[in-house]
Amino acid sequence: MNIGVFIPIGNNGWLISKNAPQYMPTFELNKTIVQKAEHYGFDFALSMIKLRGFGGETEFWEHNLESFTLMAGLAAVTERIQLFGTVATLTIPPAIVARMASTIDSISNGRFGVNLVTGWQKPEYSQMGLWPGDDFFASRYDYLGEYAQVLRDLWSTGHCDLKGDYFTMEDCRVSPKPQADMKLICAGQSEAGMAFTAQYADYNFCFGRGVNTPQAFAPTVERLMKATAQSGRDVTACVLFMVIAAQTDAAARERWEYYKAGADEAAIAWLGEQAAADTKSKSDTNVRQMADPTSAVNINMGTLVGSFATIAKMLDEVAEVTGTSGVMLVFDDFIRGMDDFGQKIQPLMKSRAHLLGTAERA
Ligand SMILES: Cc1cc2nc3c(=O)[nH]c(=O)nc-3n(C[C@H](O)[C@H](O)[C@H](O)COP(=O)(O)O)c2cc1C
Repeated sequence: MNIGVFIPIGNNGWLISKNAPQYMPTFELNKTIVQKAEHYGFDFALSMIKLRGFGGETEFWEHNLESFTLMAGLAAVTERIQLFGTVATLTIPPAIVARMASTIDSISNGRFGVNLVTGWQKPEYSQMGLWPGDDFFASRYDYLGEYAQVLRDLWSTGHCDLKGDYFTMEDCRVSPKPQADMKLICAGQSEAGMAFTAQYADYNFCFGRGVNTPQAFAPTVERLMKATAQSGRDVTACVLFMVIAAQTDAAARERWEYYKAGADEAAIAWLGEQAAADTKSKSDTNVRQMADPTSAVNINMGTLVGSFATIAKMLDEVAEVTGTSGVMLVFDDFIRGMDDFGQKIQPLMKSRAHLLGTAERA
């Protein structure tokens, strides 16, 4: 099973809590994390794009670097790890993104890929006059389909002439083409998002679900597999989990309860308002899940809480779900989390046994 890290490009990572570590996103922090990831044999690192935060006392995600420029910097200071940047497709035309990706392909020597997001949080785009109107909630994956077609054409042939509903290309060109096959990620969870992924992407990133229920996401992968049966393409799932690990189960659980007790309710309320604004996606699993009060403190992502051995066992259970090719991890404290994972968790994982030796490096 592949392992990746979702690097903290926004302040405070993924914990909306006054009791969690408070930090700003910097190049130095992300460089340290990605170099550790490379050292411990991680397969990839992904950064998201977020253009507007949630507010509250912790100013959650009010501070965010830009994904492609950060990954270009990280490409220059790493050697082996695969890097993915995210593009907010409402903000940058696809022909420019194709060229930016080609540039990072050159910097990284063929280690770059792209996560495509349609956008689900209107203020990120309306603040700069780029929100096309609320009908976009329903049509966003049609738009993304054309966008992906332009990218694929330019990367594969260096040329695009697509005449679509959203993009009109006139003998558009990009050169140099990337040296490696440019992989596309989409994290769409709605039916439209899955259908898009099955047709255009290589990986579907999805949310894990629940606390210490490592296989609860399996129905999501089943939906992906149904969609790929229609498209006939090989697309696998990669699942996002937060890891809160300690020497003992009790110590890890205590830390998790402490984070929950400090939940920044004002920031969480703002997330709820954004989720409610989308009345058009017709999706039962879209971003509304993030605002569910059960575990809004970490946007309801799947959470693994326990001793190093408990976490290793649960991650092996994730690997058993058919159609799953990887997990992507976030940590409450990234520096300590990466070292604990590399030194104390990964060496216990059957699904990472192929790395024995690398994984145990201190
Ligand atoms: C691992 C992961 C990464 C994501 N990255 C971003 C991102 O960088 N920016 C963003 O606006 N949305 C991001 N999303 C949201 C998804 O692109 C998608 O909109 C969301 O999962 C809801 O699915 P839907 O669009 O099909 O309704 C991410 C979701 C996941 C699970």
